[in-house]
Amino acid sequence: MRILGSARPLDCGRTRMVDEPQIPQQPKGTIVAGRVLVTGGAGFIGSHMTDLLMRSGYEVRALDNLDPQVHGEKAGPPDYLKDEVELVVGDVRSTEDVRRALDGCRMLVHFAAAVGVGQSMYRIEHYTSVNSLGAAVLLEAVASGKTDVERMLVASSMSIYGEGLYECPSCGRVTPRLRPTEQLESREWEVRCPHCSRSCSPLPVPEDKPLYPTSVYAINKRDHEEMFIAVGDAYDIPTTAMRFFNVYGERQALSNPYTGVGAIFASRLLNDKPPVIFEDGEQSRDFVHVSDITRACLLALHNEEAAGRVFNVGTGKRTTIMQIARAIARELGKPEDDFIIKNQFRAGDIRHCFADVTLARDLLGFEAEVGFDDGVGELCNWVADQTAEDLVEKAVSELDDRGLTR
Ligand code: UD1
Repeated sequence: MRILGSARPLDCGRTRMVDEPQIPQQPKGTIVAGRVLVTGGAGFIGSHMTDLLMRSGYEVRALDNLDPQVHGEKAGPPDYLKDEVELVVGDVRSTEDVRRALDGCRMLVHFAAAVGVGQSMYRIEHYTSVNSLGAAVLLEAVASGKTDVERMLVASSMSIYGEGLYECPSCGRVTPRLRPTEQLESREWEVRCPHCSRSCSPLPVPEDKPLYPTSVYAINKRDHEEMFIAVGDAYDIPTTAMRFFNVYGERQALSNPYTGVGAIFASRLLNDKPPVIFEDGEQSRDFVHVSDITRACLLALHNEEAAGRVFNVGTGKRTTIMQIARAIARELGKPEDDFIIKNQFRAGDIRHCFADVTLARDLLGFEAEVGFDDGVGELCNWVADQTAEDLVEKAVSELDDRGLTR
């Protein structure tokens, strides 16, 4: 089945606080012209990527299964999907759907994935099927030599690092594994040096930090990146993997309780319920606006030196979970101190991780442009006009029931 994008106007007249991302100028290297397939192109990041590709002159096709957990039970493409996008509703695990979607495409941007970290720890078969097998089906179609694909880019994730990089006052740079359960059970949240047990301070994480994925989702994402790079190398198809840090922005699936923390907090606050904060709220991430993510991807697609490489895509700045909760509450005009601090931990959660952005800056000329305040302002401006079903308690109790929060 092939559906053309919805007949809604492209821009519903909403106020934007964040400018449309600039189309990168003067790209280096060869640009592959023609049609691009974006898998997951109806989703949060994928739809922003299709918008940017179209603004840059590409014809775009999206392959998307319109997963009800993300898009709701309502059949049909999301309203934000532009008319010009050719939507193939299908599954990345179906050889037939993939062949149909790839027909005539010269670039493949693979963003389709099942994305709930916690949920991946009990829907293990589903996650590994959609993510790892889905990548295998796509790559086998490319490897068959029956497609026109000349360039590939795949979405990877900071989650493949596991715990971030740290500085120990005695041992120097250390790469700890997950915090020991006994330590977490005594509610001692900060990371200790794996060698001497002293307290450590977080450092920005470069691409060559050892990978210690701590969830099935993260293992699947490592598969994505390694499978794409290996097949790209073998068949001489320039391929790049982008390690996204914590992406936020308009079109996040607010009713999906398995999504990232920003959307979850926004959805709770919109329903006049306090955000639920794990640990003490001082854990931190690198929150990067979706327009910076898509701009980095386009820069990579346009740069032949990006072939065979992986890049962190973040801001290089660390924001605590408490800070994001307060910022979203403030922007939505809700109380800034009415939060449920669980003082419990989610199995597999890391404490701190933020990007070392040197490689993307030096090689791609990429620097994140959207500041945290502007980005959260834009997110909340959009959120304020949305309705969201608050399913967070259900999702948390699913984790509780399985002993995945303690
Ligand atoms: C997130 C994404 C992952 C993506 C990665 C990098 C999800 C579920 N996770 O992983 O797909 O690849 O960024 O872009 O989409 N927290 C709360 N309360 C909540 C929810 C979360 O306190 O209601 C805390 C968590 O315990 C954690 C932090 O917020 O300490 C971040 O959690 P989350 O948004 O799930 O992100 P990551 O696990 O970093």
